[in-house]
Amino acid sequence: MNLDAFWMPFTANRDFKAYPRLLVSANGMHYRDQDGREILDGTAGLWCVNAGHNQPRIVRAIQECAAKVDFLPSFQMGHPLAFELAEKLIAYSGNESGQKFAHVFFTNSGSESVDSALKIALAYHHMRGEPQRTRLIGRERAYHGVGFGGISVGGIANNRKHFSLLPEVSHLPHTHNLEHNAWSRGQPAWGTHLADELEHIIFEHGADTIAAVIIEPVAGSTGVLVPPQGYLEKIRAICDRHGILLIFDEVITGFGRLTTRFACDRFGIQPDIMTVAKGLTNASVPMGAVLVKAAIHDAFMQGKHAPTSGIELFHGYTTTAHPLACAAALATLEVHEKLGLLENAKGLEQYWEDAVHSLRGLPHVIDLRNLGIIAGIELEPIPGQPGARAYQVLKDAFEKGLMIRVTGDIIALSPPLILEKEHIDRMFRTLTEILK
Ligand SMILES: Cc1ncc(COP(=O)(O)O)c(C=O)c1O
Repeated sequence: MNLDAFWMPFTANRDFKAYPRLLVSANGMHYRDQDGREILDGTAGLWCVNAGHNQPRIVRAIQECAAKVDFLPSFQMGHPLAFELAEKLIAYSGNESGQKFAHVFFTNSGSESVDSALKIALAYHHMRGEPQRTRLIGRERAYHGVGFGGISVGGIANNRKHFSLLPEVSHLPHTHNLEHNAWSRGQPAWGTHLADELEHIIFEHGADTIAAVIIEPVAGSTGVLVPPQGYLEKIRAICDRHGILLIFDEVITGFGRLTTRFACDRFGIQPDIMTVAKGLTNASVPMGAVLVKAAIHDAFMQGKHAPTSGIELFHGYTTTAHPLACAAALATLEVHEKLGLLENAKGLEQYWEDAVHSLRGLPHVIDLRNLGIIAGIELEPIPGQPGARAYQVLKDAFEKGLMIRVTGDIIALSPPLILEKEHIDRMFRTLTEILK
């Protein structure tokens, strides 16, 4: 097969094409490669196949929908599946005390969700009569996708360095510190004070110039940074004090990854806006969404500066609320419920944590961290070759039938939530062999 034409994303293309890893099918906890070898999925694809691969209910929903309709526009038109999904998603994201969000804007990816959320936040302040609130605040090491908004508020140097960025953006410090919070089980005790940096940014620029703070509740793509105890609570309180919107980017943490439906449930914090994607459809059809509190949507409908008629938000994508994606998402929510994925994940969290920390003491392991069914395994870089050590582990793991994800010299694990103890055992046995 000629591999030349496909310019692969976030991939060492030259190396991959010399030593390709081609996956051809999937089922449950496994992929199968071109040679028919079974590969244990240690990363739920890309943090997204939370319900396991090829769930029959989801496959059927997509097939049935495709046989009925290929595409319907969502601009000035609509289809019932989109409205049904929006309602179900609002209900799913609520808790015992009621609805947390009131409205959903659909997108096709996490990146689009982030850029949509940032635009909604900026436009919201216009609608309320505070158009000078134009500054966005992200964090160092954050990953918010690859749109210009997302890379601007994001904080991963390689994702930013060749591109021009939005001008009015500030960054909070990240919370990772090997000296103070290495080997944390769950939320580290050290680092809460770093939330106070938000007050400094506000002091520097003035609260009335700031539109929103965007945060991954657990930073995933940078290599699993779990928020220090009390950190997110502080950020929420500071935002409240200054009328600043808080956006949680739950593209990774949503749909059970932390053993709760969303990270905001796990941490007991209510953001004003939440972005999701990935697990929403089990990644079977691309889809993302932005969930907003009632007040945000209402500002567009009846805010001081809302249009009296006509289109309220000049934003959307051709394939927004694509019927196949809606069908897949509805089926995914059913599958989550039916398989009891949250319960399974909760029941395994302690076993998972112990397995992760069993790697302590192995060569080159300099930190281990975990929350929910996520783990970060940080390796000491080879001098002068950042990322090379972890990349070699990725290649060795694939040879041994395990798919992992690496970012720099950090291994990130996030298997499907249908996993069982034997999968955890296999994953860590393989990693132990390689690291040794
Ligand atoms: C927190 C977060 N936001 C946004 C994105 C971007 O999602 P996508 O790759 O679907 O555009 C990701 C992807 O990993 C993510 O982890």
